[in-house]
Amino acid sequence: MHSEIVPLAIRFLNTFAQALSTMTLYPDGHPRRESMVDDAYANLRAVQEMDERAAFSFLGDEVVLGQRPIRELRGWEWSQRLASAGIQRLQFETEVSREEFESFMTEVLARLTLSALQQAPSDPGAGASGPIRFGSVGIKELAEGPEIETATIALSLEDEASAIEWLHEEAERKKNLPLAEAEAVVRSLASAMHGDQAIVLPLLQIRRYDEYTTTHSLNVCVLAMGLAEWVGLGARDVRAFGTAGLLHDIGKTRIPSEILNKAGRLEPHEREIMNRHPVEGAKIIIESEEKLDLAAVVAYEHHIMVNGGGYPKFDYPRECHQASKLVHVCDVYDALRTNRPYRAAWPAPKVLGYLEERSGTEFDAEATRAFVKMMSEWEPQVAVMETAASSAGPPKA
Ligand SMILES: [Fe+2]
Ligand SMILES: [Fe+2]
Repeated sequence: MHSEIVPLAIRFLNTFAQALSTMTLYPDGHPRRESMVDDAYANLRAVQEMDERAAFSFLGDEVVLGQRPIRELRGWEWSQRLASAGIQRLQFETEVSREEFESFMTEVLARLTLSALQQAPSDPGAGASGPIRFGSVGIKELAEGPEIETATIALSLEDEASAIEWLHEEAERKKNLPLAEAEAVVRSLASAMHGDQAIVLPLLQIRRYDEYTTTHSLNVCVLAMGLAEWVGLGARDVRAFGTAGLLHDIGKTRIPSEILNKAGRLEPHEREIMNRHPVEGAKIIIESEEKLDLAAVVAYEHHIMVNGGGYPKFDYPRECHQASKLVHVCDVYDALRTNRPYRAAWPAPKVLGYLEERSGTEFDAEATRAFVKMMSEWEPQVAVMETAASSAGPPKA
């Protein structure tokens, strides 16, 4: 019986790898992409018909099905690739639906993209996508060969944080924004938020002042996605809002670092330069990628107040996009929750009070109401974590 499953498993893994390659080339919903995913899914179902709880391990050169190495796949290049993206073990729990399979594929793709950015491979932690569990494995050397322990589910934002750091460096150095990587970060965060049954808001805590841009972008991305989901938007919009949150301050890469990193209050002429970051950000995004028009709008509008205050300045009242209103609230929340050189972090209730006080004048009333409600309800699901010390680059914000 067991040997009959092997050819099916090989066919599944090959079509799975082909589908991953296709997904890097074609956008969501493209027929070519859909048919490759269909193919891999059909082959997975064939495997699951023989063994519903099929488990694969990718250990360098070796691919193991259950406890048995698959000879034919020795040296298969994807085994190495999956392992270095932190996917050393892949286990199917119950019958997998087409939808579950596709969202699992997108998460794998995000991890592959992120790991390609790492100079030194690191463990991005385990994950889960519905009935599909994956992650790294601990290997105990036993007399009868390696025994694979069940992956432990843990959350780490290490890879996402360093990808964002790199993204900002690229935007600073070159003209172009690396769009695929920005989307990979968003997808990866979106699935980290849904790793378990209940939603999780994984927020980063700042450790050094020069990490501000990275942690802030990541947090605003997570909060904006949480809020978008809270107000009932669909998965695609949630991710678009997330990308907008991730890139809202990208214009700061055009602000001289003496101003950006100044410890004290800014002088009026410095403030004027700093306040150009929304316009600069919108420019960077539009020049890089037409598809990101929502992110460009949000970068442009995220400091505009309901009462016409803020910046950029207008002679007439401007009704901002819903995404800008949501990101505005998330932006201020995260900024006030963070230690800055000139002020200590505020406790959450104080920040929520601040937002409510200015609801309808500074902040959009509906966005504020939704945000405060979301934070009070999802409070237990906020996971504040620290990244390990990242590479010591020049301070950015
Ligand atoms: Fe900003
Ligand atoms: Fe910001």
